Amino acid sequence: MSMAEQARATLRANDRGGYSVPTARLYPFQWNWDSAFVAMGWATFDEDRAWQEIHWLLKGQWDDGMIPHIVFHAPSDDYFPGPAVWGVMHAPPTSGITQPPVLAAAVRHLWDHARDRAAAEANAASVYPSLLCNHRWWQAARDPQRHGLVATLHPWETGMDNSPAWDGPLARVPTETVSPIRRRDTMLVDAAMRPRGEEYQRFIHLVDLFRDAGWEPARMLSVSPFRVADVGTNAILLRAEKDLLALARRFGSVPQQAEIETRIERISAALERLWQEEAGLYVSLDLVTHALCPVGTSAGFLPLFAWHGQARAARLAATLAAWGGRATRLVPSADPGFAGFEPKRYWRGPVWAVVNWMIADGFATVGNAGTASRIRTDTIALIETAGLSEYFEPISGEGIGGADFSWTAAIYLMWCGGGS
Ligand code: GLC
Repeated sequence: MSMAEQARATLRANDRGGYSVPTARLYPFQWNWDSAFVAMGWATFDEDRAWQEIHWLLKGQWDDGMIPHIVFHAPSDDYFPGPAVWGVMHAPPTSGITQPPVLAAAVRHLWDHARDRAAAEANAASVYPSLLCNHRWWQAARDPQRHGLVATLHPWETGMDNSPAWDGPLARVPTETVSPIRRRDTMLVDAAMRPRGEEYQRFIHLVDLFRDAGWEPARMLSVSPFRVADVGTNAILLRAEKDLLALARRFGSVPQQAEIETRIERISAALERLWQEEAGLYVSLDLVTHALCPVGTSAGFLPLFAWHGQARAARLAATLAAWGGRATRLVPSADPGFAGFEPKRYWRGPVWAVVNWMIADGFATVGNAGTASRIRTDTIALIETAGLSEYFEPISGEGIGGADFSWTAAIYLMWCGGGS
């Protein structure tokens, strides 16, 4: 079987009748940003199924516009924390926090690349109001004072759970939990490739805290000891707003377009506050201490994915080249020169295909085809050598974490799935 065939077989195997699980057992529900990438992967061979992925994710959307990071469509004992720990009143049950808003970019991608134009028009028109409502939620709930950067209240919201960028802010979170911790992930994957026990205790402490706050956005924002302006989330949101604007020109009103343009201007201006000259990349901001997070991570290249920071593209490419001198394969999730770099541990070193796709897209749009092509070639080589793993060791190229991963399959298909 060719790798493209394997990737399609993986998506089919992870299909649960309209939505995809990231991989069987380890992640038995629908995850927010995974589904956005997975929809683009499905679109390479089954557009109708791609749109279903999005409609299923939106079944989890809250009335206030929030799109949860997990939608628990069907029960499973394989994952902790499940719906009872979250204690959210919603049907279907969901978590109470969100994830980076890749969704609008995915919808625009499906709409732009559609072979079935009529279906794409109908589907995009039907999801446009949900996307608009979601972007309004980001601003109202996470940037109520309109500083321009949205706050992230839990490392899981960044999608990069144990990134070294969160070490400082996470240290403020107590390790005591009300909910007993019953980790399942370390029964399925080597514990050395997963977050540490203490990090997990802090993750669950935050869940307990927010559940006590009734999942009410203003209360969550004020009680959370973890409050960061994640460069990844803000860059992805800026890109999402630009894609939403394109959709608004077709499906929305003139005032809606103006509203989106205002948010684009505000985020663009604020994102520049995250540039770190000495490190040669963007970093996250701790909103409690107002200090920039000192560690460079792969998220620091994502402003390019938002077609932002063109003037800094050459410097970003040089930073990436320096990282490439220490790692065999780009893009490690943390600066390989950083003392706490751990090439096998989740978001503290390994390469993730979805992040590579976004960074390569960014370099390609600003006209740096060479860097974009190096990232693409590295990603394809990793997958073709090691399989459709959750993530990859950047020096040995070993495939690690869970196997048969939906979003890794999706990225492979987007880059190599043209023919069947
Ligand atoms: C992990 C990753 C997160 C992803 C989820 C499902 O929690 O850190 O980014 O969405 O797994 O694949």
